[in-house]
Amino acid sequence: MRKEELDTPALIVDLDILKRNITSMADFARAAGVKLRPMTKTHKCPAIAHLQLEAGAAGIQVAKLSEGEVMEAAGIKDIFISNQIVGAQKIERLIRLARRAKIRIAVDSVENAREISRLAEGKGMKIDTLLDIDTGIKRTGVPPGEPALELAKEVVKLPGLNLMGIYTHEGIVYRAKNKEELHEIATRAARDMVETAELLRDNGIDIREVSLGSTPGAKIVAKVKGVTEIRPGAYVFNDTQQYGLGVCAEKDFAATVLTTIISVPANDRAICDAGSKAAGPDSCTFGAFTPPNTPPVEARRKDPTTGLGLVRTLDGEILWDIVFDSKIGEEYGLLRGERCRELFKVGDKVEIIPIHCCGTVFLYDEVIGIRDNEVEVIWPISARGKIS
Ligand SMILES: Cc1ncc(COP(=O)(O)O)c(C=O)c1O
Repeated sequence: MRKEELDTPALIVDLDILKRNITSMADFARAAGVKLRPMTKTHKCPAIAHLQLEAGAAGIQVAKLSEGEVMEAAGIKDIFISNQIVGAQKIERLIRLARRAKIRIAVDSVENAREISRLAEGKGMKIDTLLDIDTGIKRTGVPPGEPALELAKEVVKLPGLNLMGIYTHEGIVYRAKNKEELHEIATRAARDMVETAELLRDNGIDIREVSLGSTPGAKIVAKVKGVTEIRPGAYVFNDTQQYGLGVCAEKDFAATVLTTIISVPANDRAICDAGSKAAGPDSCTFGAFTPPNTPPVEARRKDPTTGLGLVRTLDGEILWDIVFDSKIGEEYGLLRGERCRELFKVGDKVEIIPIHCCGTVFLYDEVIGIRDNEVEVIWPISARGKIS
């Protein structure tokens, strides 16, 4: 079947671009001498995780335990679960999973670490553990330096845990206003991590992994001496946030939402069948906004996060003067711009490049792989809905 024959809305992925994105990050990590452990919450799709491993990834990272369970069942045996695993019910599941695969966990509190250790020790297990360090995002994690050392001194005593590293999500890079600032923020986060690792080692704690994770920061932090691992996720697909940060080019968007124009009610307005339930609701950190008027093309190029995605023709041309907005309805997407009636008629299909690929992909049961405009494969997004 050809791409344009697919029913919509549909999540499609260009297999050549996907492969190129996967390979180039793997090659980069290899050349930089760091391990690559992709964050798979971006795609939640075991088939894509396998492609990443085949390209040279050392293992994967998942956000949630249930995602890890799906990936393990699909044959992936080296998994870092980065969200804290709290409560006996989840810890029991973690221990069962750790019997079947090489699992790493993250902790940022003594209480949680003690509970996991107690239950793991009870089953005769020792679980590889990384301290969660907050390098500025102000989410979870202890601050670098002394607070990290204080926690490490407690965790290292616990018989059911094997404290072997530190990790961070340097998500503050998403707040960078330009490339220079992005470089500065990522480098600072990496240096904080390396210095913290050294402090812990000076105190007799054997820190082997110094792991940082984000797509915008990956290629910057990898070059800081002492960093051992990078964990980007969004790089597999890319999106308008990454483009806005200068992290990817127009040719690097792998995942799009195929949508049909269902109405062209005005010269400057067309409606498609991909609303917030199909295109994704929002950006992750930019706080995308919808301006009242279509901004000039050049302004749009400078800030492609205006609106909630870019519109691309099936031939691959980005329509920079058309703003996409999925906030107008769960089941309706708005395309706005002076040329709407000129460009679109009812029944036409276009592609939406999402503003934040992770949020969009999560909405679909399957992703349709396209090569040369033909459907080649359909992969289930098996960890979709796995949020526990
Ligand atoms: C803990 C953690 N590591 C890695 C990543 C991957 O970052 P990115 O989405 O920039 O690729 C994320 C993304 O949210 C994350 O939360």
